[in-house]
Amino acid sequence: MPTYAILGVTGSTGSSLLRYLHERPEKVNINLYARSASKVESLHPYVKTAKNIQSFVGDLSSAELLKDCLRNVDVIFSAVAQNNNEPGCSIARRTAHSIVSALEALRKEEGLSFKCPVLVFLSSASLNPTFAGATPWLLHWVLERGCYYVYGDLKESIEYLKEQSWIPLITAEPPALTQDISRGYELSLHEVMPGISYDDLARGMVQMAEEDGGHKWVGKGVGIKATGNVKINFLPLIWYLVVGLIAYFSPAAWGVLQRAGLNP
Ligand SMILES: NC(=O)c1ccc[n+]([C@@H]2O[C@H](COP(=O)([O-])OP(=O)(O)OC[C@H]3O[C@@H](n4cnc5c(N)ncnc54)[C@H](OP(=O)(O)O)[C@@H]3O)[C@@H](O)[C@H]2O)c1
Repeated sequence: MPTYAILGVTGSTGSSLLRYLHERPEKVNINLYARSASKVESLHPYVKTAKNIQSFVGDLSSAELLKDCLRNVDVIFSAVAQNNNEPGCSIARRTAHSIVSALEALRKEEGLSFKCPVLVFLSSASLNPTFAGATPWLLHWVLERGCYYVYGDLKESIEYLKEQSWIPLITAEPPALTQDISRGYELSLHEVMPGISYDDLARGMVQMAEEDGGHKWVGKGVGIKATGNVKINFLPLIWYLVVGLIAYFSPAAWGVLQRAGLNP
């Protein structure tokens, strides 16, 4: 049975990935990473008793923890991230560096028997010129600024990962994400629709890793295109963008909102 690692199982993408892989008939072993055991337990109570799931909990920068989590895995789903347009945010870069350090250590330890897992790294359709080119200019203007720091962080982390040519990398590039059930999707290198549910994103990320043993999509930025009628909840998205624009034009005002507990 193959083993998949999911990093960030307490987030929306990571939760959808874990639930989907746990519930579908084709079983795999799962190594999950999170920073809070109690949060994993409350969101995913089945983890306690599932024999095919192992938890690795602690600080993302712990080289040993991540190395143990990634040992002998076939696929890594990286969903440690943030939506909040925090000035100077670096979570994507820190995650990318931690993954590379852990894999380098395993490669050194295992020598010729080391087989590098496929890395499916969560990114965004906005960073893909083909997908972003179809976005109306005003929305593009808002997104570029309202997600400025998050996109900058993602962009740098993906550039860094691409430099590691020994790692088979797939970047998962969804459009606006929404809490909805699976409505149908297809993987595309050419276009995405305005929104996709987290459940379809999870299915799409798993398909990227599994189709042709991962070979079909390695080296590509892959869009998840909705084929059904996704129900988009615009309010949280608008709130993210409003606060993101405040962060872009006035990082100090963003700090005030943060201290007041008003940031999403
Ligand atoms: N929202 C959208 O419409 C949209 C569209 C396209 C692309 N994206 C991209 O999707 C990503 C956001 O994904 P999401 O919505 O699944 O995020 P999310 O729900 O906020 O989940 C983030 C995960 O990362 C973990 N995490 C954050 N900081 C961490 C740290 N310092 N150490 C360890 N774990 C940490 C969180 O753990 P805790 O639970 O412990 O905090 C959580 O498990 C962003 O990169 C964004 O650009 C979003």
